[in-house]
Amino acid sequence: MADFKKNDGITEAQIAVHWKEEDYYYPKTHFIAQANMTDEKILEKFGEKNFPNCFKEYADLLDWYEYWHTTLDTNNPPFFKWFVGGKLNACYNCLDRHLDKYKNKAALHYIPEPEDEPIQHITYQELYRRVNEFAALLKDFCGLKAGDTVTLHMPMVPELPIVMLACARLGVIHSQVFSGFSGKACADRIVDAKSKVLITMDSYYRNGKLLDHKKKADIACNMAKEMGQEVEKVLIWQRYPGKYSSETPLVEGRDFIVNDVLKDYYHREIEPEILPSEGTLFLMYTSGTTGKPKGAQHSIGGYLSYVTGTSKYILDIKPEDVYWCMADIGWITGHSYIVYGPLALGASSVIFEGVPTYPDAARPWRIAEELGVNIFHTSPTAIRALRRLGPDEPKKFNYHFKLMVTVGEPIEPEVWKWYYHVVGKEEAVIIDTWWQTETGGFLCTTVPAIHAMKPGSAGPGAPGIYPAILDDNGNQLEASSNKAGNIVIRNPWPGRMLTIWGDDERFVNQYYRRFNRDPESKDWRDWPYFAGDAAVEAPDGYFRILGRIDDVINVAGHRLGTKELESAVLLVEEVGEAAVVPVADKIKGKVPHVFVSLKPGFSPSKELEEKITQTLVKEIGPIAKPGKVWIVPDMPKTRSGKIMRRVLAAIANKQDVGDITTLANPDIVKQIQSMA
Ligand code: WT7
Repeated sequence: MADFKKNDGITEAQIAVHWKEEDYYYPKTHFIAQANMTDEKILEKFGEKNFPNCFKEYADLLDWYEYWHTTLDTNNPPFFKWFVGGKLNACYNCLDRHLDKYKNKAALHYIPEPEDEPIQHITYQELYRRVNEFAALLKDFCGLKAGDTVTLHMPMVPELPIVMLACARLGVIHSQVFSGFSGKACADRIVDAKSKVLITMDSYYRNGKLLDHKKKADIACNMAKEMGQEVEKVLIWQRYPGKYSSETPLVEGRDFIVNDVLKDYYHREIEPEILPSEGTLFLMYTSGTTGKPKGAQHSIGGYLSYVTGTSKYILDIKPEDVYWCMADIGWITGHSYIVYGPLALGASSVIFEGVPTYPDAARPWRIAEELGVNIFHTSPTAIRALRRLGPDEPKKFNYHFKLMVTVGEPIEPEVWKWYYHVVGKEEAVIIDTWWQTETGGFLCTTVPAIHAMKPGSAGPGAPGIYPAILDDNGNQLEASSNKAGNIVIRNPWPGRMLTIWGDDERFVNQYYRRFNRDPESKDWRDWPYFAGDAAVEAPDGYFRILGRIDDVINVAGHRLGTKELESAVLLVEEVGEAAVVPVADKIKGKVPHVFVSLKPGFSPSKELEEKITQTLVKEIGPIAKPGKVWIVPDMPKTRSGKIMRRVLAAIANKQDVGDITTLANPDIVKQIQSMA
């Protein structure tokens, strides 16, 4: 089976489950008959010899005020620019241009968590009206203009895409922070983005509880101010218009209830700004190997072309489809494949509040039946949870999916098969899409009507994407080598971020330094994109992703930086040293385990473990909740004093600890093992 070079740190790839090659599954003829890409000839257009013009196919799906003169500008690698000279507006492409044909068709279906609250069906016309009104408010009440940044800390409500599209209409750069993140995490992102306006909501539902969300805005603003960034206005939507549902008082002069202020802007219309293709649409923060989250800065023309093209040809979305992606819009999946891609195609996109398994594990299937969902998009973590809690529920509901998506983490073949047979009723095609916040859209996936599916494998490169596996010296590993290595993308593509916001150097170092062949080179072929994942290429050219090779943990499809978690744990006064490692989990894929040693004079206790857990929740959010806190007498260390995370991870994963003779304190290993 695939082997992977061991290093000092611990990587997800090293604790990946090793699978055998699986059999192929084939799309059904009824799917092929209706699919958007059925002809191998179209796929051939995306062949390497047609690069970069192949991506014209995607850009031509949009309306441009001015057509571009240069498809790809590679003059300053790796700062590639797409469709240069082109001018467009993302909001116009998602709304205005559909009004002629689809005015009265649902753009969004919104399902609130309480099942006695009515589902909202928002037509394209209604969405257009609400976006325009909010754009007028942003412009006149907040004084925002193209190029300004604004931070959003919004839950899963239709007001979130309304705000995003209103920003896009004006050219204001939105930076949505996942609502589950803490006030502190929000503050860090406000400061980095230099936002003067924060848009939030008073409360939202999750797991049967109405959570007070506005209180996080107060923490965020206070902390941002301490860090030198003053938030001048906080715009607060009401979960129940007309009623303020939060315990926190409004701060005079800073806090404004959107639902009140908006009354002055009813029926206003705002002309979409004519913006350059390589302008910035939004920032999406993600975790990296250092403590500081990085803002992936996405473009207007390249990004929108890429997500629209992949939504059409890979997700197989048509205007008549009811498409449901269960991701949160606070992550890149939601930006690309709930909001921008599906709306640019004029589809009906479903937004739901809450979690898939509350009030019971039949909720998704109930919704699918009621709305006639025919494309379903979710993560392995959700599939595992639904399979465990309600393995037979899908059978009880009358829905028919033509296509299903899995994204965010590797999916175990066994789980894939349940998804295929039970959820998909053996009718639906499955695509396993591998990509990242930084990449804007899919990198590896099968083309659903053309390629066979293989459980556990993402598939070949998406059309126009050329992945390769490189060993640590940059030599390409052949598909038949059966060796794991670093997955890279050999070519630029339109969906890739422009840079890391405010940090070009980090952008180059993180994604391009590793395998760059010549820093002076102007040839894009010398600049492979380094993704930070380990993968194996099978002889059929399908890529199987094994997991992160850096200090990033993928928890339930969400990225957490071990450094971020460790810094948070070190805030607990009793803690002397902290190390966080990924541990395999049946539902979430991976969960973080926290190892700490205490400062002299303190002793371990259940209370202290709980305090550490609560600190992580407070500093980062509930997704950072550790699977276990280990208070150990000492950390296993090298002679130079480095904590051996690899050894800790092996212990927590109940694996062989390997060679520990180089440790300064090998005896500690047995002591820690006995605590398991
Ligand atoms: C990391 C990116 C892509 C949107 C959601 C996550 C892992 C993503 C897959 C997949 C195996 C996957 C990778 C990647 N990942 N999709 N289909 N199979 N692993 O975006 O938070 O930027 O995380 O998620 O490790 O690097 P993200």
